[in-house]
Amino acid sequence: MSVVISTRNLSKIYRTGFWKTKTFCGLDRLNLEVRENEIFGYLGPNGAGKSTTLKLLMSLIYPSTGDAEVLGKSVYDISTRSQIGFLPEHPYFYEYLTAEEFLGFMARIFGYSSSIVRDKVEYFLKLVDVFHARKMQLRKFSKGMIQRVGIAQALLNDPKVIFLDEPMSGLDPIGRREVRDLILRLKKEGRTVFFSTHILNDVETLCDRVAILNRGQLVGTGSFSQLVSQEVKHLELVISGIGLTAVRQMAGPQVPVHESGATLRLELDHHAPMAALVERVEKAGGKIISLNPVRQTMEDYFLKLVSESPSVGPKG
Ligand SMILES: Nc1ncnc2c1ncn2[C@@H]1O[C@H](COP(=O)(O)OP(=O)(O)OP(=O)(O)O)[C@@H](O)[C@H]1O
Ligand SMILES: [Mg+2]
Repeated sequence: MSVVISTRNLSKIYRTGFWKTKTFCGLDRLNLEVRENEIFGYLGPNGAGKSTTLKLLMSLIYPSTGDAEVLGKSVYDISTRSQIGFLPEHPYFYEYLTAEEFLGFMARIFGYSSSIVRDKVEYFLKLVDVFHARKMQLRKFSKGMIQRVGIAQALLNDPKVIFLDEPMSGLDPIGRREVRDLILRLKKEGRTVFFSTHILNDVETLCDRVAILNRGQLVGTGSFSQLVSQEVKHLELVISGIGLTAVRQMAGPQVPVHESGATLRLELDHHAPMAALVERVEKAGGKIISLNPVRQTMEDYFLKLVSESPSVGPKG
């Protein structure tokens, strides 16, 4: 599979302070490769450098060192622009245009004929579910509706590579599900999707590979199964109808028991014999609600990496 996005020692040092005398490293020597037809998740806490990377890849800002390529050409080469779609972090569009006028304007910029513009606008307004509001000025749109229009404009030109900066931002749970389905559909159509997020659940369910960024530095990259241990950490037994003291006596002092509402959650060694404990709980009038193996989650991995990674910060 060919590489469609690559960066080599890509760094961004921002000048800060009133006199611009201080510097801040927003991105520190990033080396990244994204392959054709991947859904690639770019993860990191607030201020990690995700948007900085996306702006560099869109050549909206210039790197301090290093370089980047998209579709085999430098990011400054305008010949590939027509094959790229981009949703910025805070989409801001000319707000006196209606959704229909705005998307029509964008489609005409790509040089489509009037009849194709009409069809495309209708298709994308329906795709992102704002067709009902097509005659409304964008200034009257909610945050989630603007986000949907932003996603539509990123797809108008039938791009091969799509960059989305926090695509789920501002969307309700239904909207998030729709965007997830849309991203999967874009992959099925053979496109490459690079999106930033700090919603770990999106990454677990969507991405072929992820990169984790913290304080401007890449701290982990790989597929979900490569990054997150699939080994069972412990068994989680959830019971109700029985008191905490009685459960502690049955399970033994070494077993952590957590109380939440009317249920008790026991963290059991996954090699420990289970049948005898279950029988004792049931005999004492307790009810088994669930028994599940617990594996490391993306969240565990992410929090561990982010807490362990060294700090990069203001310089100068
Ligand atoms: N123009 C700028 N001048 C100075 N510092 C900047 C500038 N733009 C970004 N930064 C700093 O660079 C760091 C990375 O910012 P960036 O916007 O890339 O983070 P992010 O990972 O996208 O965060 P978020 O999840 O909050 O969107 C932050 O500390 C930010 O304050
Ligand atoms: Mg950002």
